[in-house]
Amino acid sequence: MAEKKFKRYTITAALPYANGPIHIGHVAGAYLPSDIYARYLRLKGEDVAYVCGSDEHGVAITLGAKKEGVTPRQFVDKYHALMKKAFADFGISFDIYSRTSNEIHYQTAQDFFRKIDAQNIFLEETSEQYFDEKENIFLADRYISGTCPNCGHPNAYGDQCEKCGTSLSPRQLINPTSTVSGATPVLKPTKHWYFPLNKFEDWLKEWLIEGHAKDWKSNVYGQCKSWIDQGLQPRSITRDLEWGIPVPREDAKGKVLYVWFDAPIGYISATKELKGKDWEKYWKDPETRLVHFIGKDNIVFHCIIFPAMLKAEGSFILPDNVPANEFLNLEGDKLSTSRNHAVWLHEYLVDFPNRRDELRYTITSISPETKDADFTWKDYQQKVNSELVAILGNFVNRVMVLTWKYFDGKVPSAEEIKPTSEKRERILSLYNDAHTNLNASIKEMNRALDEFRFRDAQFHMMNLARVGNKFLADTEPWKLAKEDMEAVAGILNYALMVVGNIAFACQPFLPDASLSILKQLNIDSNDSKKFWNNGELIEPLKEGHQLNQPELLFRNVEDEDIAKQVEKLQSVKKKKMETAQETNSVKPIKETIVFDDFAKIDIRIGKVVAAEKMEKSDKLLKLTVQSGVDTRTILSGIAKHYTPEQMLGKQVTFVANLAPRKMMGLESQGMILMAEDAQGKLRLVLPDDEVNPGATVA
Ligand code: MF3
Ligand code: ZN
Repeated sequence: MAEKKFKRYTITAALPYANGPIHIGHVAGAYLPSDIYARYLRLKGEDVAYVCGSDEHGVAITLGAKKEGVTPRQFVDKYHALMKKAFADFGISFDIYSRTSNEIHYQTAQDFFRKIDAQNIFLEETSEQYFDEKENIFLADRYISGTCPNCGHPNAYGDQCEKCGTSLSPRQLINPTSTVSGATPVLKPTKHWYFPLNKFEDWLKEWLIEGHAKDWKSNVYGQCKSWIDQGLQPRSITRDLEWGIPVPREDAKGKVLYVWFDAPIGYISATKELKGKDWEKYWKDPETRLVHFIGKDNIVFHCIIFPAMLKAEGSFILPDNVPANEFLNLEGDKLSTSRNHAVWLHEYLVDFPNRRDELRYTITSISPETKDADFTWKDYQQKVNSELVAILGNFVNRVMVLTWKYFDGKVPSAEEIKPTSEKRERILSLYNDAHTNLNASIKEMNRALDEFRFRDAQFHMMNLARVGNKFLADTEPWKLAKEDMEAVAGILNYALMVVGNIAFACQPFLPDASLSILKQLNIDSNDSKKFWNNGELIEPLKEGHQLNQPELLFRNVEDEDIAKQVEKLQSVKKKKMETAQETNSVKPIKETIVFDDFAKIDIRIGKVVAAEKMEKSDKLLKLTVQSGVDTRTILSGIAKHYTPEQMLGKQVTFVANLAPRKMMGLESQGMILMAEDAQGKLRLVLPDDEVNPGATVA
C-alpha cells in the first residue's frame, strides 16, 4: 500500500440501530476492528477522532417500539443506554458514542439537506405508493413484505430481500402485505424527494471504480462494481412517518428524512459534539483520512450513496477506505436477534468476568475479513487455552518467575556474552535467530495493521511470544544456572526485553493483558509510542530495574464453562420450537402405520356436478360427485367455508371406499379431504392441475 501521510484520522464505526443489544456479530463486523485500528493510531501518536453512536430512526425502531408496546422515544432510550454501556464495559474505545436523536444531529442533518436542496439537486415526484388503510400509514421499507421478484423468497422486505441481498422497492414485491397489520395495501399518491444517484454515476466510476476501490478489499470492490454496473437510479430520501427528522421544507409537512439519509450524517454530528469548534478539520481537511468500518450489508450505503451525498453537499472529504467485514456465524448458524441465536455482549461480560481480552482475541483470530466465519465455543476454549494461556501467558510467566528465582526480581545485567565455549556460541546463534524473527514479526504486524488485516496482525503479535518461548526452550536457562550465571543473566535480560515489547505490541488487541504485563514489569506505557514508531524491538528496561510479583495473565476455560454456553443456545432453540408449536397449536403426529395400512384407503379425484345446502344444517353441503366409476352423494362439513356456487364444477379429493354413513337422514357415500389449520380454517385438498375423475391418489 502506498504510504500516504495523513495529518489526522476520522474513524467511524457503523451506527447500530437502537433496537436490541449488541452481539458478537456486531463486534466482529465493525467495532473490534475499528477499535484495534483506533488504538493503533493513537499509540503511534496520531490525532484520531473515533466516532460512533446509536442509529435511532427508521422502521427498525418504530416497528420494534410497537412490538414492545412503548413509544419510539422510550424504545431508543432503553437500547441506547444498554448498547452504550456494553461497548464501554467491553472496552471499545470510542472517543464519543452519540445518538441520532440529539438536537445537534437534527440540525446537522437538516443543514446537509438544505445545502443540497439549495442547489436544486433533489428531484420531487408524486407517485403511487402502498398504503395501509387499517393503520393509516404509507408502507415503505420494512413496513411491507412480500415475495422477492428475484429469488422467490416469500418474506422479502420493501427495501431489501435478506435471502438474496437484492435491494428492492415496495412496488417490486409480489403479493405485498403490511407487516404492521397484515392488511393487503392499496395504492395512494404521495410526494417525495429523490436523490439523483444516476447523475453521479460517471463521477462514481472515476472516483471509486477507477480510483479508490482498486486498493480496497476485494469483497468491497466487487459489491461496488456490480452495483454501478447495474446502473444507478434516483433514490427516495424522504418518508411519510411520524418518527424521524422533519424534512426542512415548507411543502414537506409530515415528512421525515429517510433513515439512511440521516444516519451517516450522524458521524459528522458526533464529531461536532466531540470536538466543538475544531470539528471541521476532521471532515473538511483533505489531509484527514476518513475510514468507515462496517459490516458487508452496509457497503453500498458507505461506498456509493453516502459519498455521492458528500460530493453533492460539496464541502466534505470522502472516505479514503471502507474496510467492510463479512458476517460472523455462531455454531454453524446465522446470528439472529429475533431468534435469540447470539452471544450477547452484556451477557458474556457477566458470564466471563474480567475476560474481555479472551473474547477480543478469539473474534479477531477468526475475523470475517475476507469471507464469513464461524464462532464456536469449542474454538473459543481452544484459542484461550492453547494460545493465550499456553503461548502468551506461559512465556510472560516463565520469564517473570525465572527472574525472581535467580535475580530477586531485578532485571539482570545484559553484558555481552562472549563466545567463549561451544555452548555460548550456540546461545549466541539462537539469540541472533530470535532477534531476526522478532523484528520480522513486528514489521509484519505493523504492515498488517496498516492494511486492515487485523487477524494477521494479531498472529504476528503472538509470534513474539512464540519466538520467546522457543528461545527459552532452546537456551534452557534453568539448566545453565548450574554452570554459567552470566549466560543466564543475558538470556533473561533479553527475554524480559521481549516481554516488554509484547506489552506494547498487544495493546491494540489485548488492552487488559497489556496493562497487566506493564504492571508486572513495573513500567508505564511511556515507551509505547517509541515502540509503535520504531518498527523494531526497543529496550524498555534498564539493568537493575525492580519488577513486581508475577501474576497470571489468562486462565484456562473449563469444559463446563463452555458446556453452559452451548446449553444456553440450545435451550433458546428448544423454547422457540415449543412456543411455535403452542402458538400454532399444531397437532402432534399420529402413531406410525405400515404401508399396508395406508394402501387400504382408496383415495380418488372426483368432480362436483351438483351442490346444495342441507336443510336444517349450517355446516353441511350436499354434493353430487362424479367419481369416474359412479355418481354419488357426499355430505361434507364445509358449508361455512365454501358456498354451493363455489363448489359446483370443482375437483375434489375423496375417500372412495369408506363405509357409507347416515347423516341427518341422508346417506353419505364418501369423505372429501380437507386441510384444517389451528384456527379451524378449512381448504380443499386438490391436485394442482385438472385430472380425469376417477384418478387415484397414492
Ligand atoms: N443502523 C445501520 C445498521 O445497523 C447502520 C447505519 S450506519 C450509518 O445496519 F452510517 F448510517 F450510520
Ligand atoms: Zn431474494
